[in-house]
Amino acid sequence: MKVSVCRKAHFNAAHRLFNPNWTFEKNQEVFGKCNNPNFHGHNYNLEVWVKGEIDSETGYVIDLKILKDIIESEVEDRFDHKNLNEDTVEFQKLIPTAENIVVVIWKLIKAKLDPKLELKVRLFETERNVVEFEG
Ligand code: NI
Repeated sequence: MKVSVCRKAHFNAAHRLFNPNWTFEKNQEVFGKCNNPNFHGHNYNLEVWVKGEIDSETGYVIDLKILKDIIESEVEDRFDHKNLNEDTVEFQKLIPTAENIVVVIWKLIKAKLDPKLELKVRLFETERNVVEFEG
């Protein structure tokens, strides 16, 4: 009997979408305003879903305090108030689209979780644009 629990989180970050192998014009054609050389920012909202059996001793799937601490150290400390392209190692060679960001976040959190727990991450780049990854 598996139950899903969720911890929500938030971070602000700047980024620029561009492919260094393309000309500025080609980047402009594909990414439009997101190719602005001076970057632009988003208020990212995150939902981190963990699914597993209820522990018979604690009654928890995971102590949400533990999940909160993992999100803080792996996501917020790393990306909050950062320029994703310039300030992070994760996006030195990876275009920081919402799709790539959600996969990076999933891997960072997954590495800190008990392997028997399933993980799904949902990232809201805007109120209307959402991506999801579950491994
Ligand atoms: Ni953007």
